[in-house]
Amino acid sequence: MIIVHPNLQEVEQASALQRRLYRTIRETMRSMAGRICATANWEAKKSLARHIWLDAEHADAIRSRVLELRFPRVDVDLEVDKALIAVLAMLPSTLSDVEFLGGIYQVVKPAVLNAVETYLRQSDPLDDAPSHRVLRVVATEQRGELDEFAAWWSAIPATDRAVAEPWMDWLRDALAEAGGVFALDSSAEILLRPGYSDRPRYAIPLMPARDPRWLPAVTQVPPRPPRTPQEQQVWVAIDHVNELWACEFPAAMIWHHDNMPWLLYRETARWAYDEMRHAMMGERRLLAYGFEIGVDVPMVPDHWVGVSARRGLAAMMFVVHGLEQGGPKWKSMLKDELWKMGDPYSSQDCDYDWADEAGHIRYGQDWLKALYPDTPKSELIRRTQQEVNLWKEWIADKHLSGHHGYDFFMPRIEAKCALMPELPNPEHFQPLGSSAATTSYEPKL
Ligand SMILES: [Fe+2]
Ligand SMILES: [Fe+2]
Repeated sequence: MIIVHPNLQEVEQASALQRRLYRTIRETMRSMAGRICATANWEAKKSLARHIWLDAEHADAIRSRVLELRFPRVDVDLEVDKALIAVLAMLPSTLSDVEFLGGIYQVVKPAVLNAVETYLRQSDPLDDAPSHRVLRVVATEQRGELDEFAAWWSAIPATDRAVAEPWMDWLRDALAEAGGVFALDSSAEILLRPGYSDRPRYAIPLMPARDPRWLPAVTQVPPRPPRTPQEQQVWVAIDHVNELWACEFPAAMIWHHDNMPWLLYRETARWAYDEMRHAMMGERRLLAYGFEIGVDVPMVPDHWVGVSARRGLAAMMFVVHGLEQGGPKWKSMLKDELWKMGDPYSSQDCDYDWADEAGHIRYGQDWLKALYPDTPKSELIRRTQQEVNLWKEWIADKHLSGHHGYDFFMPRIEAKCALMPELPNPEHFQPLGSSAATTSYEPKL
């Protein structure tokens, strides 16, 4: 009879390894979140938004396990992993999408997956069963992320990929110098290499990047209400697909604010992914109607232009929070109206969107409490109204002055709407808003 001995790994080691894994995934997630708004490629943006949600869930599950394992100081004592964290803080300090994505998906994530797989091999699946359950899920989903990235990466010209190699080389060497993902921290200073280690800390741009395939635009809100049921369908989808701006903002906050409570980061990653899902709902409808996003309809971060570029990033939180408070009512109304008109697909999109929005309102409140702990609630409400009003004035001015950028898009939209099939119950059509001269048809989240 062959006796198989279990793998041996002390609880102290198990918790230290998983704590470092948690910190790696968490800080990598924060860098990915911050870099979403600076990423131009649409496919990459969509992947990043989904992956920060998955990664936040992975970090959370591992963190919970560490808290069970006699190592409760999981969000403090950062000195213990100081060298590692210094390298991870450099992740978004890149000069192109290809450099950034190469660093994340060719260097850091493979190291994370290798660490998870090594842990599963070297630990005892009976004694350490709760870790195994968590890490098996992490391994499967991280592998999925890498597969998704591989398809994107292979479509990049080899010459562009080659430009990113020196950055990836430095990152690989710097991670090793810090001790790697699956070891003790080296406590070493960051690996010096001119042109790489001395890059400034990445700062959130006040103007998010848009895919170079998309045409210039000013406002996403059409300058007049819809006139037909088909236009109504398209107006809703344009509003949805442009929720991209609302994904980029909470994601940016995850990077912009250090040392926030972990739960806030975790929920904000979900928030950002929800908004990207809402954008993808719009993209899916528009594709079904025969529209190309960014070409037939505008794709523009008008909220960033009208708010953050003029009033700073801090003002955006008030505008987002203010607009979101009207979200559930707006989306529940749309759900009913679209269903009655005979468009179950748009109706369902609005139904699930609405389900997300209640959470978003709470996340916004949590951010305001975290950022302004000593400010009275009445003052926060006043500031919210002020910033929302300034935003509404900005977009009303674009529409009234005719500087809305729709001159190119509107004829294309009208032509394509005329080709769309009749809905079963057009008599239920009630145009969103009522006046082209006002913004009574306003974007909601
Ligand atoms: Fe939302
Ligand atoms: Fe939304």
